[in-house]
Amino acid sequence: MFNRRLLILYNQLNMKIFVTRAIPEVGLEKLQTAGHEVIVAGTEVLPHDTLITRLQTENPDAVLCLLTDQIDSAVLDAAPNAKVFANYAVGFDNIDTVAAKERGVTITNTPGVLTDAVAEHTAALIVSAARRVVESDQYLRDGKYQAWGPLLLLGMALKGKTLGIVGGGRIGHRVAEIMHHGFQMEIVYFDQQKNTDFESDLGAQFMSEIDDLLAASDVVSIHLPLTPETRHFFNQDRLSKLKPTALLVNTARGAIIDEAALAAALQANQFAGAALDVFENEPAVNPALLTLDNVTFTPHTASATKEARDQMSVMAADNVLAVLNGQTPPNPVV
Ligand code: DGY
Repeated sequence: MFNRRLLILYNQLNMKIFVTRAIPEVGLEKLQTAGHEVIVAGTEVLPHDTLITRLQTENPDAVLCLLTDQIDSAVLDAAPNAKVFANYAVGFDNIDTVAAKERGVTITNTPGVLTDAVAEHTAALIVSAARRVVESDQYLRDGKYQAWGPLLLLGMALKGKTLGIVGGGRIGHRVAEIMHHGFQMEIVYFDQQKNTDFESDLGAQFMSEIDDLLAASDVVSIHLPLTPETRHFFNQDRLSKLKPTALLVNTARGAIIDEAALAAALQANQFAGAALDVFENEPAVNPALLTLDNVTFTPHTASATKEARDQMSVMAADNVLAVLNGQTPPNPVV
């Protein structure tokens, strides 16, 4: 009897956790310290069929996955003993949550800890696009700088201009805070419902109609989750509603914008420019966009601070540990 209890305890301790790609050590150490076996697949994205094969071979008790992994029913079925798929991201559009729920698999994410990182990066993109920082850098590197010029690389002042936040959650609010308090921008925001923090903290105006926000904004910053309803939310029609002087910034998910429509609108100079951290078919970028000077790019690095990535690692590990201990995880999605 005594030995049987010990065996059960040993099995609970020594569970197998499959991590689909290397993440900061701090979370992995937490899992190991708790007595579990941690298998890190490597440093490259696992192709979908390889992920399935690896899961079938390893048969893990838990999976820590990344936003680059498509977690569909085939993947879930390849790991029948996995009680949890802990996503190392706040967004979880890479996971078929319905299929997970049907199979009783818990899905978790990493909200909150990357809010500041993403908001700071968004602010950097707004300033960079408004003041043509990347274009100016290229101009100088190309040896074109001959003399100070009254008309050289003129940008748009942000003070007193209107920032339209599309998606009034944590990140949208933090971006609005930085741009309102730091740059004295006026804030308008759109969402399905009011977030009264916007009004009380920032004197912001709620807009229940997206077209009203687009007509009012000098800069539009996207902070929506990607869902079937928000896919191509910025379609040709909505893009045509932006002011001719407007800048469009996206640090949320690429597919919220119809990228082909965006390229066409910018090629036709329908509005002033864009700054993009995310893309519809990552890592591919619409080739037409790459030829345009008035688009600033970063490679989905909005959350890429050491601090945020470490905290995401710890949070994902805590979610795994809670499920393996039979508890409700801190950040359940399903
Ligand atoms: C997330 O966590 O969803 C971000 O896109 C990662 O940068």
